[in-house]
Amino acid sequence: MRKPVIAGNWKLYKTIAESVALVHELIPLVVGNQRVDIVVAPVFTALSRVSDAVEGSHIMLASQDCYWEEEGAFTGEVAPKLLKDAGCSYVIIGHSERRQYFGESDLTVNKKIKAAIAAGLRAIVCVGESLAERESDQTFAVIETQLKGGLADISEEAFSHIIIAYEPVWAIGTGKTATDAQAQEVHAFIRQLIARLVGQPIADAVRILYGGSVKPDNVKGLMTQPDIDGALVGGASLKAESFAAIANF
Ligand code: PGA
Repeated sequence: MRKPVIAGNWKLYKTIAESVALVHELIPLVVGNQRVDIVVAPVFTALSRVSDAVEGSHIMLASQDCYWEEEGAFTGEVAPKLLKDAGCSYVIIGHSERRQYFGESDLTVNKKIKAAIAAGLRAIVCVGESLAERESDQTFAVIETQLKGGLADISEEAFSHIIIAYEPVWAIGTGKTATDAQAQEVHAFIRQLIARLVGQPIADAVRILYGGSVKPDNVKGLMTQPDIDGALVGGASLKAESFAAIANF
């Protein structure tokens, strides 16, 4: 009942030409696969050209971040409506790399989610604990703080435009995936927390993606877990073959 989402986060990789070439390679490999929503997130400068390249396919476009103001004297920022204008239907918000290196906080995540949804985008909201937090049994507390802060004052209606991505920081780019059971445990916790915050029907409908070293050979086990509704893929999304293998799990 929850349609799976497989999203590729290309991070700071690929020129415009390389990005366009990647989707050209990807499209024929996933063309028959309508049972999952497929999303790619190139760098800002490639968005518009990749948008043209995916037209007519069912691949959708995301940006990796946004600002929360519509316009103004905010040098260097990109507003949600401009991302929409460039062809995006999704935006990744609060990725751990943004939290770690660029001062992203639950407050800025919250502002960005609201602005993104107001502009007609879907938000892929990332949460996840560090290794130290996991080892000191803080995982659930950290996730709860991130979600309560990030999702503060989000209307019930807006929730239908939100996807959660659980990405344990220790699993990102490390080749160390959470086990199916570790991921499922946190996904179930997230769904229960959302049920407490906004009610069971919304919690039952919200899609929760797992991210952190997802590869063609571990996606299947993750996807058989009851509360895992898809994947946010970094490294393995940079090659058409491996990303298609994940999308076609
Ligand atoms: P990874 O990255 O698949 O390379 O671990 C995931 C992410 O950061 O979204």
